[in-house]
Amino acid sequence: MTETAKIVVGGKEYTYPVIRGTENDKGIDMGSFRKDSSYISLDPGYGNTGACESAITYIDGEKGILRYRGYPIEQLAEQSTFVEVAYLLIHGELPAADELKSFSQDLSQHSMIHEDMKNFFLGFPNTGHPMAILSAMVNVLSAYYPELLKPDPSHDDINIIARELLAKVRTMAAFSYKKTIGEPFVYPKTNLPYVPNFLNMMFTTPTQDYQIDDIEVKALRTFLILHADHEQNCSASTVRLVGSSHANLFASVSAGISALWGPLHGGANQKVVEMLEQIHSNGGHYQKHIDLAKDKKSGVRLMGFGHRVYKNFDPRAKIIKNLAHQLLKKKGVKDPLLDIAINLEEIVLKDDYFIERKLYPNVDFYSGLILRAIGIPTDMFPVMFAIGRLPGWIAHWIEQVKDPNSKIGRPRQIYVGSKKREFVPIEKRS
Ligand code: ACO
Repeated sequence: MTETAKIVVGGKEYTYPVIRGTENDKGIDMGSFRKDSSYISLDPGYGNTGACESAITYIDGEKGILRYRGYPIEQLAEQSTFVEVAYLLIHGELPAADELKSFSQDLSQHSMIHEDMKNFFLGFPNTGHPMAILSAMVNVLSAYYPELLKPDPSHDDINIIARELLAKVRTMAAFSYKKTIGEPFVYPKTNLPYVPNFLNMMFTTPTQDYQIDDIEVKALRTFLILHADHEQNCSASTVRLVGSSHANLFASVSAGISALWGPLHGGANQKVVEMLEQIHSNGGHYQKHIDLAKDKKSGVRLMGFGHRVYKNFDPRAKIIKNLAHQLLKKKGVKDPLLDIAINLEEIVLKDDYFIERKLYPNVDFYSGLILRAIGIPTDMFPVMFAIGRLPGWIAHWIEQVKDPNSKIGRPRQIYVGSKKREFVPIEKRS
């Protein structure tokens, strides 16, 4: 028997089918509710609204579970590479050895951007935030590679545009950084794998070549894997919403980068380090900061704590905390901010305010310390998140493009503005 849900409103009863996912997620398919009843469901922030069925990522926020295409994040972080995870997210299955080799080679060979695009980078002021530059430049790809933007792309066309974006994003990210510090751009090297290639573009200077450091490469690779997807978060939903109008992948991802930039989302890793620095410069007065975060009127939040979905622990935070310890130890770095973070976490986890609201450290709490230890400047942190999240955005965009039932995204509202009133010409207004 088909499982159903009944909604009684305005003296009438409406019946809708219950949909269950492979992990027993349950939803009520009530897309026709307004048509049937003239009521809408009101859900600000979409905390209870499913906008699609998706086969990419599974999260159980109560149990702290995160899986990409069925594979646990812990196994991927430990045993996989970022390029392999990107392939998995985009294509749906793990690659065979020859598929991975050719995907990797393709990413290296297509990492160069059109030479004329350099002029855009040169035009930005040095004070420009690298996220602003990255978002703009990803959109600009649409102007430089129009041959990739077919109105009705085939399977192969989609794979090509996805590969181009994945290959070029790290070059554009590194160029954004070089622009803001006023150093010459370093071109990608086709013989280097994904992560070392990026680090080489970031840290090779006119006087010194970047020396590949395996510990840094491992740490950054794991960071990117942990950020690669997180189902219908703010930026992925933005990519899907923009893409639902059939906007191309570059335009859709550019919008996703803007959504990610906000301090409540991908901008949080930068804000965490700034918060830790502030506590450090205030002589380590944790309690003062915690009290401020608990006082609603202050407008302050404890950055790196809380999550819309995880209400027990964020599995990525566990992995990244260990990684931060290992990296700093192996590099012999003594970062006072790590001690502050550890102490802050300890105090907060015993505080009733945070316990009652189920606010635990999220992935951003320790990730900034890893990026700092690698030498990546604070305002590049959200850019690093964007590089990591790109395979997820691409996978969501493709999933939607290929879904024959997908529709343009168009939420409803409850209008609370003025009732109808007559226009008053300017000369008659008092
Ligand atoms: N510090 C202090 N109080 C908090 C915090 C925080 N970091 N997070 C939530 N709260 C409080 C809220 O004030 C609210 O209290 P109330 O019930 O008394 O009104 C309660 O906890 C619930 O908070 P909401 O804002 O409703 O939770 P929501 O799910 O909408 O927000 C979010 C989640 C945005 C992540 C929030 O916890 C937050 O702002 N955290 C800090 C920013 C951050 O770290 N963002 C990164 C998220 S992870 C990522 O994007 C990769």
